[in-house]
Amino acid sequence: MPSIFPSEHSLGCRIEGVDLSKPLNHYDESLIIDAFGRFGVVCFPNQVLEPAQHKAFASRFGSLEINVAAGPYTVPNHPEVMILSNETIDGKPVGLGDAGQDWHTDMSYSTTIAFLNVLYALRVPRRNGTALGDTEFLDMCAAYEDLPHGIKKEIEDLTATHDFDKFWSKMVSLPGSKRKPLSDEQRAAKPPVSHPLVLRHPISKRKALYCNVGYVTRIDNISETASDELLQFLFRHQLKEEFKYAHSWTEGDVLAWDNLWTMHNAKADYKATEIRSMWRCQTMADRIFL
Ligand code: OGA
Ligand code: MN
Repeated sequence: MPSIFPSEHSLGCRIEGVDLSKPLNHYDESLIIDAFGRFGVVCFPNQVLEPAQHKAFASRFGSLEINVAAGPYTVPNHPEVMILSNETIDGKPVGLGDAGQDWHTDMSYSTTIAFLNVLYALRVPRRNGTALGDTEFLDMCAAYEDLPHGIKKEIEDLTATHDFDKFWSKMVSLPGSKRKPLSDEQRAAKPPVSHPLVLRHPISKRKALYCNVGYVTRIDNISETASDELLQFLFRHQLKEEFKYAHSWTEGDVLAWDNLWTMHNAKADYKATEIRSMWRCQTMADRIFL
């Protein structure tokens, strides 16, 4: 029987007593789906996974994404398993080294948005016994509920444009970035898309602010000035400390987070010589809304 240990924040819990290398039974599966709706960020400690098992777990909740920019950074024969790592072998990076290093929501730039990101920690950087490279989260249901009444009404029926290239270009422009600008083919594969600003969560039925500073470029169908003003307000609002939760990693952690009501940021507080390596599967929100 799995046991759930909630964090002291609105986001975050640990689920013990489930072995993710084995097929989930229906009881455990519904307990875990319920936890995504209640806690948003779910850690399964002490897991030992092969890529196929990682995929099998993540695909219980929706179809898996093959990232347009994953290119060389996937596990051989498993294009759905992306390698996030700052390790280099013979001078060549083995993975994407700077994934998620600023606030964003995964795959909000896709027509079919993300439900989950499932990360499996292989190596965690540590200094004087303290783990580095935390992943930080923000609670977008709390952010929605905390909006002034007038803004809630204003955004109720609005949509926003999300653009993959916004975050990617920002990363390219940082000093020391190993990323290259997107090719025409990559850009064409991810044209900007629009989504409603307010999302009704399919599990909890709560409303979430579905807007993130990483990918949103424009509020649709209002003037550019009005869009800039509203976005400036929403971006500042959603980054408030009170919505925040941080996950400190241990090797063997599987961390699955619900992108429908969270934003996240990979803390870049470790050096090139301090190795952080993860495998990642992304689960789309194609089944959770059915
Ligand atoms: C991602 C991401 C965060 C991390 O994989 O999309 O943002 O802490 N990763 O590695
Ligand atoms: Mn991310």
